Amino acid sequence: MSFTPVHRKNFGNNFHWGVAIAAAQNEGGFLEDGKSMSIWDAFARRQGKIRGSHTPFVAADFYHRYKDDLLLVKALGFNSFRFSLSWARILPDGTGKTNKQAIAFYHKVIDECLKLEITPFVTIYHWDLPNVLEKEGGWTSTLFQKWFARYVKVCAENFGDKVKNWIILNEPLSFTALGYMMAQHAPGKRGLFNFFPAIHNAALAQAEGGRIVRELVPNAYIGTTFSCSEVIPNTQREEDIKAAGRLDILMNRLFIEPVLGLGYPRDDQFPFIQKLEKYTHAWRYTEKMYFKFDFIGLQNYFPVTIKYNALMPVINASQVNAKTKGAPHTDLGWEINSESFYRIIKKFWMYGGVKEIIITENGASFKDKLENGVVKDDKRIAYFQTHLRAMQKAKKEGVNLKGYFAWTLTDNFEWNLGYSARFGLVHVDFKTQLRTIKNSGHWWRAFLQD
Ligand code: NOJ
Repeated sequence: MSFTPVHRKNFGNNFHWGVAIAAAQNEGGFLEDGKSMSIWDAFARRQGKIRGSHTPFVAADFYHRYKDDLLLVKALGFNSFRFSLSWARILPDGTGKTNKQAIAFYHKVIDECLKLEITPFVTIYHWDLPNVLEKEGGWTSTLFQKWFARYVKVCAENFGDKVKNWIILNEPLSFTALGYMMAQHAPGKRGLFNFFPAIHNAALAQAEGGRIVRELVPNAYIGTTFSCSEVIPNTQREEDIKAAGRLDILMNRLFIEPVLGLGYPRDDQFPFIQKLEKYTHAWRYTEKMYFKFDFIGLQNYFPVTIKYNALMPVINASQVNAKTKGAPHTDLGWEINSESFYRIIKKFWMYGGVKEIIITENGASFKDKLENGVVKDDKRIAYFQTHLRAMQKAKKEGVNLKGYFAWTLTDNFEWNLGYSARFGLVHVDFKTQLRTIKNSGHWWRAFLQD
């Protein structure tokens, strides 16, 4: 497959070119001005959970440096900025009383964006549940919908006059699977009987959240995001093809199909799906899980290659990693494959019912070195170039693509990998919080100015 050179102008004048960040990864401001612990704060206190025993307590200090960081967004030429709200800051008790200082903080961030003519995109939930709610069961609780509805309402009522672009959830598969099935992310739970209720609450919350914002915010532009990865069978043997099909259900179809009114994906040969249906009484909720989003956010980093593996519980499959395959990969071992980015965009577009697509995250982590004030991250530049080309091709072929957000502005707290994985366009020295624009940041500035 060949892609023609990429040019900003091919995307039109109203395209959202942005960078994305998240509260728990960037803000820091631990317990400041009334914030309570999030599940990530609590998780970080458990030994051995986060690489290097790192914590999100300071992160990239966005709580105090938001003005500087927004100036960087502007300097790099972006017209949009995606950030998330911290539930534990806004509602320290999870429900109940609103924290005025938190509301004031986000107003300052939003006002600063507007002053700089940067369009804010606000993510309501990016993985940092208040720990008080986790103690009551968190995403597995039967009370969850009530808690979430209250939180969404507070967000919409407080910021809806200034913010029109809303994202309800960030990557429901990631926080339910990693957090409630595999114990790699907060809150560190395991097993299908945590995973099923977490999935179901997320599928209901994304739709209900959309309805609440629609009702409370006039002229809102509402989306929600999904992680996605093209799933490639390792061989053309039937068992590998079937294994890839199961992973496709989990990684790509599980959360979008309910949104589109299709209910959970169906597959007679995948017991996980039958169990999920049964456990959640899914057939009763088809209507409730449906919501007409104005756009869907796709977040793509890599494809996966899958082979049959009888020893793996639930999915009977395992991943062939990029190194084993001899494929190009980032320093996290994530396969670099822009053609697969093109194909996954097309795949989601092929669902009837998707009105518009925004790439709400895409990027790469490398072991960047700051030397004499310069970060030569050529591989990241190449990653962006090839992925933008792939997106340009999809757009040219009729996919209604409305925006692209690079992950991420500054190096930040990469969840269970702590500060060891750098994704930023701007380097952060975490000892001094000094920011240095990487060569990829300079590349973006040139691309967006052209
Ligand atoms: C997706 C998540 O939304 C974001 O928080 C994370 O840092 C990136 N992937 C990179 O892993």
